[in-house]
Amino acid sequence: LNVMVNAAKKAARSMVRDFGEVEQLQVSLKGPSDFVSAADVRAEKVLRAELGKARPGWGFLGEEGGETPADEGALGHRWIVDPIDGTTNFIHGMPHFAISIGLERAGELIAGVIYNPITDELFFAEKGGGAFLNERRLRVAGRQRLDHAVIGTGIPHLGRGEHGPYLRELAHVMTHTAGIRRLGSAALDLAYVAAGRYDGFWEHGLKPWDVAAGILIIKEAGGFVADFEGKGDPLQTGNIVAANEKLIGPLTDLIRKANA
Ligand code: IPD
Repeated sequence: LNVMVNAAKKAARSMVRDFGEVEQLQVSLKGPSDFVSAADVRAEKVLRAELGKARPGWGFLGEEGGETPADEGALGHRWIVDPIDGTTNFIHGMPHFAISIGLERAGELIAGVIYNPITDELFFAEKGGGAFLNERRLRVAGRQRLDHAVIGTGIPHLGRGEHGPYLRELAHVMTHTAGIRRLGSAALDLAYVAAGRYDGFWEHGLKPWDVAAGILIIKEAGGFVADFEGKGDPLQTGNIVAANEKLIGPLTDLIRKANA
């Protein structure tokens, strides 16, 4: 965890500088509504270098630079890194984005760090050790009724004209809950579930670097994650629903039935 926190704080320094001069940044589109900036690439380089220096030979999967496999002696350790989760917010000057670092050993998530360098909120967890926001222990919200629940979501990156099924889902969830939020960083969305700020969250088509750290932080805060399409592990499928023990079933059903 120390290695992860130090790396995140180092990458945050250049990120905060870049955020201050965001109109001069080079920005391009990777796909429909999917931006990348020079700041993402710079931050990932810092994270690769710092994590690699502290733990030589461990694998690395990054949003911008792809996969470097672990050496044989690395016992299957792999960092899963999003240098800036919430790039669209970042390049539009909105202070809601985060560095997300997950750590896997032999396919199992064992640590996670999500850091918002603007608010200085550091969410972290180690398997079996609980989840924290700075010094405070985290616990998911205790609400038991969907009609009292505030649910976060993300709008999937799709081509024009393909949003029909998602919009039906959104309308259905909106009808049965107390409110919806769409803040634009899946990593922070998951951290907010762990912190009890949201009662639940769902999104389609996320990547491992968006969710790896958040999944562990939610579980360590007493919450649950599932794949609402029933196909397995949300880290692999990218379709994720998260909530407390009471709401995970009803929220999953709501999403699944919206398009039935
Ligand atoms: C994005 C954010 C956003 C989510 C997108 C992600 P990025 O990550 O997490 O909230 O809706 O699906 O791709 O591209 O800014 O790292």
